[in-house]
Amino acid sequence: MNSVLRVTIVDPNDDTRESLKGMLLGMDQVWLEAECSRYEFFADVVSQTQPDIGVVMIDQDVERGIKLISEVREASAKCQILVVSNSNDGNLILRVMRAGAREFLTQPIRIEDLVAALERIGSQYLGRTGSGTQGAKVICVAGATGGVGTTSVAVNLGCYLAREEKRNAVLVDLDLCLGDADVFLDTIPEYTLVDVAQNVTRLDFTLLKRSLTKHSSKLFLLPRPVQLEDVDLITAEDISRVIGLLKATFSHLIVDISKSYNAIDLTALRMADDILLVTQLDLPCLRNVVRLVTSFGDMEGMLDKVRIVVNRVGLDQGHISLKKAQDTIGRDIFWQLPNDYRVMVQSRNNGIPLIEQAPKAAIAQSMQLLADAVSGDEAAATAAIAANEKLSFGKLLNFLPIKAGKKEGG
Ligand SMILES: Nc1ncnc2c1ncn2[C@@H]1O[C@H](COP(=O)(O)OP(=O)(O)O)[C@@H](O)[C@H]1O
Ligand SMILES: [Mg+2]
Repeated sequence: MNSVLRVTIVDPNDDTRESLKGMLLGMDQVWLEAECSRYEFFADVVSQTQPDIGVVMIDQDVERGIKLISEVREASAKCQILVVSNSNDGNLILRVMRAGAREFLTQPIRIEDLVAALERIGSQYLGRTGSGTQGAKVICVAGATGGVGTTSVAVNLGCYLAREEKRNAVLVDLDLCLGDADVFLDTIPEYTLVDVAQNVTRLDFTLLKRSLTKHSSKLFLLPRPVQLEDVDLITAEDISRVIGLLKATFSHLIVDISKSYNAIDLTALRMADDILLVTQLDLPCLRNVVRLVTSFGDMEGMLDKVRIVVNRVGLDQGHISLKKAQDTIGRDIFWQLPNDYRVMVQSRNNGIPLIEQAPKAAIAQSMQLLADAVSGDEAAATAAIAANEKLSFGKLLNFLPIKAGKKEGG
């Protein structure tokens, strides 16, 4: 409960107050402590309820509102103020900030802006490092080429992340034309990304959750559009808003991006905390990894997030060794997933993820550890990385390709 932000709002206008309330009530990380319809009572309400954040909707009486900000800051210094107004007049903003407000939002409020403002207040003034959407991790799963296992990783990662009681995870299928995450999860979704994207300005959290498909693993899915012609209706701006919205309700977003690295994919990559770049150990894949890594190097903040995941390790003795791959790419290999065609194909054909289909298989255990490693939970990540090192060491002794790799590298 520590990371929950307690909020009290004041707005004499019933309509705007109700609409803001609707937004706040849908946010898992916000607890609406009290609401107040009269400016003159707000300072008292704040001193009684001691919220972390007071939201002042200022338009009904701007002068009274500005005075109120100073009063509240004086009487309840711990309460940080967020001001909302129809106006974006620079002079008004200046006065409001001088009176002691921390954030200013203009009506109509975009949910992601509200979320971002609360997050900033939480981290800058309340010392809540784990508060707000900072806890929400965006993990993009990208592939070096088609068929390397991007969707397999994204879906199974999602299921393992969703399994933990304290986490809630959503998988977004951004392979807008040919995405098949719904097949992997054997679901027939009622709504798709196009419905959510088109209504993103008026979506609230309840509606958003209703638009998602929930899998038995507890993983939510936002699938790609059904019709090819709908793909063009989705813009990069929409995706940025959808991700912002999802970040406010989910602890983990897993994004299965397409192989075209278009504007939509890049938007997701920019918003990601981690980028898992899935590859196999053959020349065309590794060449693409080098190209992608070089391009990411030109984009601010991108390369640091990239983690190379080698899939289907042990597939073919003719494959390039891990050591050589690592040297070629010039980066460490973050994870190795073993080859297990039988289990993987069965899982995909049945539409049953590994967690249910074959939880004991080595590939399933490796996926589970990978999920822990990127979960953002430090203790779980450290344990998973240590366990995986042991597994990799076992592989090193047992699988020829990696052994060969040692020789080649050494
Ligand atoms: N570790 C693995 N071992 C064996 N087969 C795998 C593995 N990972 C994925 N596959 C298989 O590879 C194929 C392509 O995987 P997919 O996840 O659809 O790739 P992508 O999304 O990159 O196109 C699928 O048939 C899948 O079952
Ligand atoms: Mg795919």
